[in-house]
Amino acid sequence: MRMIAPSILSADFSRLGEEVKAVDKAGADLIHIDVMDGHFVPNLTIGPGVVKALRPHSKLLFDVHLMISEPERYIDDFVEAGADILTVHQESGAHLHRLIQMIKAHNIKAGVSINPATPAVMLEDIISEIDLVLIMTVNPGFGGQAMIPEALNKIAKIKEFAKGRKKPLLIEVDGGIKVETIAAAEAAGADIFVAGSAVFKSADYQGNIQALKKVR
Ligand code: DX5
Ligand code: ZN
Repeated sequence: MRMIAPSILSADFSRLGEEVKAVDKAGADLIHIDVMDGHFVPNLTIGPGVVKALRPHSKLLFDVHLMISEPERYIDDFVEAGADILTVHQESGAHLHRLIQMIKAHNIKAGVSINPATPAVMLEDIISEIDLVLIMTVNPGFGGQAMIPEALNKIAKIKEFAKGRKKPLLIEVDGGIKVETIAAAEAAGADIFVAGSAVFKSADYQGNIQALKKVR
């Protein structure tokens, strides 16, 4: 069963709490929260204060995607705010292994994301340490971009690195996921599908989520 993680980047920011509640009710499996710092990516979005304010609005897992430089400075704040999965970028710094240990010390799930230009092999030596790999299928920073389908080829390589591990490795894809592209992402091996514009494009969130879940 496809897991759909609506990205609230495409929600109405003046009513974020209601939007989170609405997609929860509409059949979302996780809530994807895009954190951008205007440095690692050319956009500014949400900080831990907003995550904390949203926390009472849903019991779904908060899947927090940190597109920020020096993420180590903010791990504690996002855990305290209620993140259930914290995903950092491989490209964000020199000490990825240490960063993963910092996240895991809080007993939450640790994810690592790679940009379209980053090869899968960059994750080979830390794959046993993490719970989730987030494959960027667009260059991070903005919603509503077209998928870069070549990025999906990395999933098979990552699964190869993860062979033999005991706990499951979740594969999440992010960027340009819509009715026209989700089946290819699933065929490539993804488990969790982030969808911003495809969920929030019209008021029928339930219909939009069901369409993503059902299309072959
Ligand atoms: C992009 C973000 C995505 C984005 C996806 O930097 O990480 O989560 O919101 O938006 P869509 O689904 O519209 O491509
Ligand atoms: Zn994201």
